[in-house]
Parts: sequence; structure tokens; C-alpha cells
Amino acid sequence: MLLGGFDIGGTKCAAVLGIAEGGRVDILAKRGFPTPPTPAEAIRQFGEALGELLSKHTETGPLQAIGISCGGPLDSRRGLVLSPPNLPGWDGIDVVTPLRERFGVPVALQNDANACALAEWRWGAGQGVANMVFLTFGTGMGAGLILNGSLYAGITDMAGEAGHMRLENDGPVGYGKAGSFEGFCSGGGIARLGRAMAERRIREGGTTAICPDAAGLEGITAKAVFDAANDGDALALEVVGIVGRKLGRGLALLIDLLNPERIVIGSIYARQEALLRPIVMEELAREALPLSLAACEIVPSGLGEHVGDAASLSVALYALG
Ligand code: BGC
Ligand code: NA
Repeated sequence: MLLGGFDIGGTKCAAVLGIAEGGRVDILAKRGFPTPPTPAEAIRQFGEALGELLSKHTETGPLQAIGISCGGPLDSRRGLVLSPPNLPGWDGIDVVTPLRERFGVPVALQNDANACALAEWRWGAGQGVANMVFLTFGTGMGAGLILNGSLYAGITDMAGEAGHMRLENDGPVGYGKAGSFEGFCSGGGIARLGRAMAERRIREGGTTAICPDAAGLEGITAKAVFDAANDGDALALEVVGIVGRKLGRGLALLIDLLNPERIVIGSIYARQEALLRPIVMEELAREALPLSLAACEIVPSGLGEHVGDAASLSVALYALG
């Protein structure tokens, strides 16, 4: 079945064309473009990109549906994007109707974390379980919840906004809140924590490979933190220790609340599992209910770097019911 996907991100968008068949998905083609300044322009560029991809893949039969994956808040029933923090100007934007009119197929919109959960559940590391949670742990921290064999989106599509949950009274800001799950466990949050800790270290006369000189503080990214930690830098390992313990704490809340069979974690965890997993498991042993913890597997994304592409296609499939 030929499906189209529109992945809307704060800095990048993508048009994806794929085939879903027999419990697997194949990405046929992808066209990425920088997120344009206006939603109308983004929708237009996506339509053009998908049209081009379709014209190059005429052997695969007609397009069946289009799925759109975007950060929340949004209204999936009305197909509206409702001013996500990383998409200024996208306030009450109908992304579904123009695409339905242009391509003449069913079009659906879902929260990006929900879309990833659907993709991992159908095609990735969530296969075969009825209760699973997907955590994005990338630019943002969002959860997608599959409960009793179906997606649970909440009454206004806000279920799984795990990034907003408070883990500490203080800490890096994420989701507009210091000490939140997104504050500690997201690319931006890790960079901010790394900067703050490196600044203090340098002020006290020390050094760190996260940032060899004080002038470079602004250049610290989550990747720089993990690269330095993998090289054994003491301060970077301290930062990773904090991030891992907060991830464990956030996971413990989800495990205590939902008693899921599997938690699948994307992006940063999937890339840095060797460093993070031992820290996370130690914290979970302290924080989560033993019976729930024993029943829950924690695994990295099975779709890996393709999860975002598969996510929009899984929303297309969801549109078909
Ligand atoms: C948004 C969520 C989204 C998550 C991952 C958060 O900042 O509020 O809706 O799922 O980032 O992109
Ligand atoms: Na969600």
C-alpha cells in the first residue's frame, strides 16, 4: 500500500513516500527541506515534494493516504496545528484540508510522539505487545501511549506530554519549566546543563573536553557532551550521570502509572544506550515499583534513525482505520 508522510519539525520538514505491507514498511523516497517561515509555504512545498516523489514512483500503484506528524499541541480530529512552541506562527493551522484537496486521499494529523509510538508498535521494537510507551528523547521529550492495543491520545490530544512533568524544583528549562523532564532529557536541555556545569568548572579553574576554553561555552551541544563522555571526560560523565538519573526517574513515573510491557526510547537514548542504560537501570531499581519494573522491558527504538519517516507513514495507515 503506497503511503505519503509529512514530517513537520521546528527546523526541518520532510516528505516521505513508503510502502506498508505484511507487517513491514519500506521507505521508497524522502525529500527534506528547511521549515519555511509560514505554514502555507510549508504545505505548498510539501505538496510539490510529494508530487515529485510520486511522479518518480508510478510503478507502485496509486497513493492511498497521507499522514502528518507534528509536535503538539494540535487537534487531530479537526486537523489543526495549535501553536507548538517550536513552530512560531503555526496557530490554528489546518494542514489536512489543503492536502486532502490536492491529493484526493484521506489525510490525518497526529502528535509526533504518538506517530512514533504507532510506527514502533507496527513495525519496530513495539511489535507484539498491547501496552507500550514510546519516548522521543530528541529535540523534545514527548510520549506516545499504546494502551490495551490502541493509541491513547487523551481528550484533547495532550496525553503523553511527559516533557512537562516536573522532576526537580530546579534545573535546566524545558517546556517552559525549570526542572522538567524535557529540561533534563532533551537535546537542548542537555546542552544547557552541559553549559552551566562547564561554566562553573572553568570558573573554578578546571577544564573539560566538552568545551576546551570559556569562549566556546555557547557552542556546547548534547552531542559534544556525549562525545566528551565517551572519551572519559569527568565533567561530561557527571552531566550524563544527571541526565541518566533523571531519565530513570521519568521512566519510573510512567512505569508506576501505566505498568507497560515495553518502553521504547528514540534518538538520544538509542544512540547513547551504552552510556545511559546502566545509570537508568540503577535509578529505576531505586524509584519504580519492583513488580512493575520486572514486567517492563526498556529498549532503544527499533526503527532507529528512520523512526521519524515511518512515524508519518504510520499516521497515514491510521487515517485508513
Ligand atoms: C512537544 C510534544 C512533542 C515532543 C517531541 C514536546 O516539546 O510538546 O508534543 O511530542 O516535544 O517532539
Ligand atoms: Na503524545
